[in-house]
Amino acid sequence: MENVHIGLIGCGSISDAHLQAYASNPQVKLAAVCDLNSERARQTAEKYGIPGVYGDYRELLADPAIQAVSICTWNNSHAEISIEALRAGKHVLCEKPLCKTVDEALAIQQAVKESGRVLQVGYVRRHAANIEVLKRFIDAGDLGGIYYARASLIRRLGNPGGWFADAERSGGGPLIDIGVHVIDLCWYLMGKPKAVSVSGSAYRKLGNRSNVENYAYYQAADFDPSVNTVEDMANALIRFENGASLMVDVSFSLHARKDSAQISVFGERGGAEIEPALAIATERHNTIINIDPQLTAPGFDFVDSFKREIDHFVRLCLGEGDNLCPVEDGVEMIRLLNAIYRSAEEGREIRLDGEEEA
Ligand SMILES: NC(=O)c1ccc[n+]([C@@H]2O[C@H](COP(=O)([O-])OP(=O)(O)OC[C@H]3O[C@@H](n4cnc5c(N)ncnc54)[C@H](O)[C@@H]3O)[C@@H](O)[C@H]2O)c1
Repeated sequence: MENVHIGLIGCGSISDAHLQAYASNPQVKLAAVCDLNSERARQTAEKYGIPGVYGDYRELLADPAIQAVSICTWNNSHAEISIEALRAGKHVLCEKPLCKTVDEALAIQQAVKESGRVLQVGYVRRHAANIEVLKRFIDAGDLGGIYYARASLIRRLGNPGGWFADAERSGGGPLIDIGVHVIDLCWYLMGKPKAVSVSGSAYRKLGNRSNVENYAYYQAADFDPSVNTVEDMANALIRFENGASLMVDVSFSLHARKDSAQISVFGERGGAEIEPALAIATERHNTIINIDPQLTAPGFDFVDSFKREIDHFVRLCLGEGDNLCPVEDGVEMIRLLNAIYRSAEEGREIRLDGEEEA
């Protein structure tokens, strides 16, 4: 069986999800890891029995035996590392978001074109089993044309701090961190329509709520309650050329009574809720029907979805199949997210059909 030699750059929280999935794929040899924090890289290598350990990603990329890399670093280095990896002849799985700015996204796209290598954007939710099932229903026309979607992920207390709260390294707060997942998912299920305008708002009213006591939430390793330069919450209305629209609201901090996730798409013949479990609503013989697909994982199964994402990437590295998450989709999402931030800043709708692009 052919082996794909993999290097992983950025040995933080999400790297485990990648490494476990690679380790369970018989066509993979985990060849090297790299982190700015060399002790973290060393511990990761030891945990997974990986021979190569680097503190500088350029040294990892210089190893001709490595064919492909996972990029799991802070968002501000995704563009630079992706471009260098592609130029070094590696295939790339880049964690979401693809990068911070539209210029960076276009430069990555150019590097993909010039290198002829694969770049898969880490849109893990597209690979979830329940999404694969829903996509079959949509592609068969069971929902009809989708004209409305809702992407909502509300955390009432969930600013992880650290680099997530540092706009320079992250590119923004909940919109670019968690919004990217659900906006992309809706856009993908809607058939990737062309966006023509966005109108967004972003708020910094509550900060990171580090004053709250007696309530546990995830905090990044370098959490510092005094540092936070990202929005608490953002919302947006995205309009598409085909008349469809997508409503978004996402938060790290909000006076909500509970955390919630609502991801839904609505078509002329049926609608689907994706969180907390895939459920479809339609009509038959003038009667409303609720359909509950019976799935082992009716909601988002984190471990299984990463396994599917990584298996997909490995197949692409072996020249098999089509890229489900190509660079163009990463570029489009960065264009949308940046336009939402710009709309919020300028307090007006931003047109995306030409003259006003960021
Ligand atoms: N797909 C998902 O569901 C998901 C979930 C969490 C995070 N992410 C994404 O994964 C990326 C990493 O997030 P995380 O939560 O693992 O962060 P983290 O802070 O836990 O880990 C990031 C690691 O990257 C290292 N690093 C940063 N810049 C580097 C560089 N230039 N070279 C080498 N190492 C570098 C840091 O030292 C750190 O160890 C982010 O882009 C994030 O958006 C995706």
